[in-house]
Amino acid sequence: MIYVLNGPNLGRLGLREPGVYGSSTYQDLVEMCQTVADDLGLTVEVKQTDAEHQMLEWLYRAADEGADVVLNPGAWTHYNYAVRDACAMLRGKLVEVHISNVHAREEFRHRSVISAVATGVIAGLGFDGYRLALEHIAR
Ligand code: DQA
Repeated sequence: MIYVLNGPNLGRLGLREPGVYGSSTYQDLVEMCQTVADDLGLTVEVKQTDAEHQMLEWLYRAADEGADVVLNPGAWTHYNYAVRDACAMLRGKLVEVHISNVHAREEFRHRSVISAVATGVIAGLGFDGYRLALEHIAR
């Protein structure tokens, strides 16, 4: 099992700042990830939560299973040490994905507390970032 985990506000894709994140919805993202995974012969679970404790539980489960994770931590990226510490427990790959190019945006988005414990980071490629992350994991 590969987990594609999305943090706060990502359930609002399509409605949320379409100039930054595009007009495709969170449901479109889920369907794209499922299609990509099917094509690659992977089994994925795609989830989103606005609740930190829920994200931590999902990361513990992935750690216990030794599963690979694609994670868009949303705004938690920039300050959430509890999510980072849970990410550090993972034994599989961790690909950090951002839809927008965080480095071309506000200063506070330039720093990620997650990246140091990630296998790699993809930013600014829209939903393609998730597809590329899954392709990387499939190799
Ligand atoms: C984001 C970038 C974050 O800075 C922001 O808080 C998000 C989404 C992205 O996918 O571009 O919620 O992670």
